[in-house]
Amino acid sequence: MIQEQERKRIANDLHDSLGPMLSTVKLYMHGIAVSNDADKQSLSKASGYIDETINNLREISYNLLPSSLNRNDLVIVVREYISRITSHHLLKIKFEAAQNVTIQKKIEIHLFRIIQEIVHNTIKHADATVLKLLITGQSDGLFLISEDNGKGFDLNGTREGAGGLGLKSIENRCEMIDATLKIITAKNEGCKIIIKVPNK
Ligand SMILES: Nc1ncnc2c1ncn2[C@@H]1O[C@H](COP(=O)(O)OP(=O)(O)OP(=O)(O)O)[C@@H](O)[C@H]1O
Ligand SMILES: [Mg+2]
Repeated sequence: MIQEQERKRIANDLHDSLGPMLSTVKLYMHGIAVSNDADKQSLSKASGYIDETINNLREISYNLLPSSLNRNDLVIVVREYISRITSHHLLKIKFEAAQNVTIQKKIEIHLFRIIQEIVHNTIKHADATVLKLLITGQSDGLFLISEDNGKGFDLNGTREGAGGLGLKSIENRCEMIDATLKIITAKNEGCKIIIKVPNK
């Protein structure tokens, strides 16, 4: 899929070109001899900003493409993603994946993006304290189920409004992997999403 290829290229470019350049800038800055206290302070501030930029850059390339998805399976990547997210958000995410679920390699990236959007939406909109995520296999297919205990929303109202791209993108991805999507939500009733990828 072109969009994922393009994301991959951008993620790699960012990671491989800007990352080392910023580290080099930092290295040169450390080599500058200053005696004056004010100059020392400015230099140390600048160095702090570079660290922050390097961290942001990592975060951006990670969001574009978790490169680990090429090496590890989805469950491991989701776990890693969740621990990153929960380290700077209050939302508690309970992730469970059934043992021995087999997920086709080519749908992993779609499921990962869907999970990212669900987590983002829960953080942004739900006012929830807990989000449950479950990946499980049944005889008739693979299921991704999410459930938050937040304020819910009026799904029809959202569909009519101009709104954002997130739910639309979940819909598109489900179509691409021949999955069915069910969103169950109402004002003050949280939001539950059930995605079923049928066995071929
Ligand atoms: N878990 C949720 N709890 C409460 N409201 C939600 C939840 N998920 C989505 N919504 C509501 O549905 C709307 C549409 O979501 P969607 O992801 O399509 O757009 P967005 O998050 O506003 O923007 P974008 O995803 O493009 O950044 C949101 O604006 C929000 O009002
Ligand atoms: Mg969204």
